Amino acid sequence: MPASALHTRLGLENDWMIRARIVGTGQYLPERILTNHDLEQMMDTSDEWIQQRTGIRQRHVAEPGQGSSDLGAPAAAEALEHAGVDPAEVDLVICCTTTPDYLFPATACLIQERIGARNAGAYDVSAACSGFVYGLATADAFIRSGVHKTVVVVGAEVLSNRLNWKRRDTAVLFGDGAGAVVVRGEEGEQGVRNVHLGSDGGAADILVMPTGGSVQPYEQHPLESEERVAIDMRGKELFRKAVMAFAVATEKALAAGELTIGDVDLFIPHQANTRIIYTAADRLGLDHDKVYVNIARVGNTTAASIPLALDDARKEGRLTPGANVLLAAFGAGLTWASALIRW
Ligand code: ACO
Repeated sequence: MPASALHTRLGLENDWMIRARIVGTGQYLPERILTNHDLEQMMDTSDEWIQQRTGIRQRHVAEPGQGSSDLGAPAAAEALEHAGVDPAEVDLVICCTTTPDYLFPATACLIQERIGARNAGAYDVSAACSGFVYGLATADAFIRSGVHKTVVVVGAEVLSNRLNWKRRDTAVLFGDGAGAVVVRGEEGEQGVRNVHLGSDGGAADILVMPTGGSVQPYEQHPLESEERVAIDMRGKELFRKAVMAFAVATEKALAAGELTIGDVDLFIPHQANTRIIYTAADRLGLDHDKVYVNIARVGNTTAASIPLALDDARKEGRLTPGANVLLAAFGAGLTWASALIRW
């Protein structure tokens, strides 16, 4: 790949640069599995409808009292072990989540303590399903600027206790889980090449968790009320926006890296829905065999979805050295994000 015009003028080649390289991945899924057939017993839905409209066959569900940090900590520990990195070397822990254990402290602080990253700072990133790519972009910026050398980025979610289990329009979509990566500053061609972050707060009302924040605290809703926990989602609108967001995010990252869609070896999208993923892939002109999909097994795990998929892809041998790997996500906000990585 050619060096940028400025680097060339200064006589610098790209491979002198420090890049943020993913050197370890890990995951954790709660033991309990809820299949579509289980859901048939709980609400007016069918395995056939769910599979046809979303591609989901089952999802994992946390136990009562199990928080996002309980899932995120073992995922981060596995990523550190895979990387062969001592937790004491970690400079920063970022937890990307829409379902923090508490309003404060940050879930990242709880994970930091559990994994023994005693020299690290820690904070949460909230960008819904785009959260992990936002977190990775933050790690990339800290590493390339020389501020930090080793960053752990975790996506962890316990959505199950924020769902209204009487509402089939949303309850069938989501799952609990966590994925994590260890990102390190290294010289050379491997690592994050480009990131793109976007948002449109004008479309915030398409996907909202209205209760539990400062505008509608829980006290306003009686314990048994339907509104107490319920995601508000305009599914069809979101579907259209999501397909567009994938296209924009992908094209921006590729253009910044002076690559075309033909150069992509593996596309790892946010696992929201197979129809959205394959519609976006078709628009981009991407072969389906280059698209990584694991939604059937885990459902939509929001901020955990991409790091979970990355870890699955790694364990299946799909991430080969030198491969161009493209991550893309969209979610509430609305937000969208992409990252182009030379593996
Ligand atoms: N089981 C059976 N029937 C259902 C279910 C269900 N779980 N949910 C809805 N239906 C019914 C509806 O009531 C409707 O019935 P009707 O025709 O008698 O009125 C029919 O199915 C069609 O409903 P639609 O909402 O029009 O179905 P659609 O084809 O749009 O699929 C879906 C719904 C899957 C939610 C789709 O709109 C979608 O995927 N949207 C994007 C949602 C998404 O990805 N959300 C999360 C991403 S953002 C993030 O990750 C945070």
